[in-house]
Order: sequence, then structure tokens, then C-alpha cells
Amino acid sequence: MRIDLVTIFPRLCDGPLAEGIVRRAIDRGIVDVRAHDLRDYTTDRHRSVDDVSYGGGPGMVFKPEPLFRAVDAIRGEGEVDAVILTSPQGRTFTQREAERLAALRHIVVLCGRYEGIDDRVRSALATEELSIGDYVLSGGELPALVIVDAVVRLLPGAVGDEESVDVDSFSRGLLDFPHFTRPAEYRGWRVPDVLLSGNHAEIRRWRMREALARTLALRPDLLPAAELDSEEREILRALMQERGAEHGRD
Ligand SMILES: C[S@@+](CC[C@H](N)C(=O)[O-])C[C@H]1O[C@@H](n2cnc3c(N)ncnc32)[C@H](O)[C@@H]1O
Repeated sequence: MRIDLVTIFPRLCDGPLAEGIVRRAIDRGIVDVRAHDLRDYTTDRHRSVDDVSYGGGPGMVFKPEPLFRAVDAIRGEGEVDAVILTSPQGRTFTQREAERLAALRHIVVLCGRYEGIDDRVRSALATEELSIGDYVLSGGELPALVIVDAVVRLLPGAVGDEESVDVDSFSRGLLDFPHFTRPAEYRGWRVPDVLLSGNHAEIRRWRMREALARTLALRPDLLPAAELDSEEREILRALMQERGAEHGRD
């Protein structure tokens, strides 16, 4: 897969691309991530990328020309499947969106700054607009890197068994079960006995129950869309009955 980031601060991307799973995936040739300096696509002496907002008001706006030129140049190097505009106004980026993007071969992510980007970039250049949450950041670099990280760890070979993505939160619409490691007892807090029992069937069922209980307690909004098998549905029904009984006693 290839991912191109277009930004006025390409060096901001260096750190997150230089460590961990993303770095390993780049080194293994699983993904090619390139950060382009938007100013390289300007034509004036001052390499200016922004201008005042038509209609007045504070703040500068990214001009359309450098962004169109940057994407044209990237398209010249090979077919592009998606041009993503980072924006607090976009569709919320979720694990499902990460899975969808991970199936593409080439994406471009545009990073805004200041008041944002000339709206013709949104309507005529971007193929989609993604937000990483309902808050406003000062630039699109962190959102772009969030997207890169979430997508790259889904690419085959990027994550080893020791960091398996299958049980991660949201992978099947549920939160992950709790994890523990040695020591078995720390400051009087013991790891649940079942995890030390060596009984794999019991451990599997305990983890299933915990994932469902956590999701029910913390993110019940996820449950209607979760992909549950019959065993999980049965456990969930029991958990909901227990909760109902507890509330009845309150
Ligand atoms: C200060 S913001 C512009 C906000 C814009 N005036 C608005 O209110 O919608 C500058 C840039 O940061 C990025 N950005 C800020 N918050 C974001 C978010 N929650 N998700 C994705 N991108 C965001 C976008 O690239 C945006 O163009």
C-alpha cells in the first residue's frame, strides 16, 4: 500500500513514522508512506500556501492551487484510490473506516492548517472528508498520522502474533477483554484465578464474558452492530438479566 501525506510540516510526521509497527511495516515494504511539503507545489517566490478569507474575518485559508498541484503530481506516479481531506466536519474515522482504507492500494491524505482549506478542495479534489473526533486541532498532521497508524496495523504482515489485531477493541464490534501479566499478585491484587488455571475452554469463555460485560457497561451503543455468535448472544442475555436484577434492587 502507498500513503501520501500533504502538509506544510512534513517533519511533524517523522517521529510517528520512525518507530514501532509503522516503522517495521515501512522497513518490510508493506507500506510506503511519503510526507510531501505543500510548499514544494507553490510557484511564487514566497512559497505561499495561504491567503485571506473572502468575505473577511480572522484567519488564513489554504489556497487551492498548491493542493491541486500536489495531488496531480502524486496521481502522475500511479492511480490514487482515495483523496482524504482531514477536517473536523468530516465523517468520524472509526475501525470500520480503517478496515475499508486498509483494503485500498493508494491513498492521499491532505492536512489543513489555519482556518482550513479553500472549499473547492473539499468539493472538487477530495473524494472524502474524515474527522478523528468532535474537537478542533490546529492542523491535520495528527489526524493523518492517526489514520496511517490505524490503517497500517491492519495490513497483512504489519503486526505479529504477539500483537494480534483480531481481539482488539472494535474488531468485531466489542471492546477487548482485560489483560494481565506477571506477577500473579501485586500489592494484594490477584490476577483472576481462571487465567492461571490452564483450562483453555474456561479462559476462552471468561474472556468472552468480560468483553461483553465491558462493552455493555462502557459502550452499550456498540452492541446493536456487534457480530455475535449464539454463545455470545446467550452470555449477553444473561448479563443483561443480571443488570436488570441489580437495577431492580436499587
Ligand atoms: C484549526 S482546523 C480548521 C477548523 C475549521 N475552521 C472548522 O471549524 O471546521 C485546521 C485543520 O486541522 C485539521 N483538523 C482539525 N481538527 C480535526 C479533526 N477533529 N479531525 C480531522 N482533522 C482536523 C484539518 O485539516 C483542518 O483543516
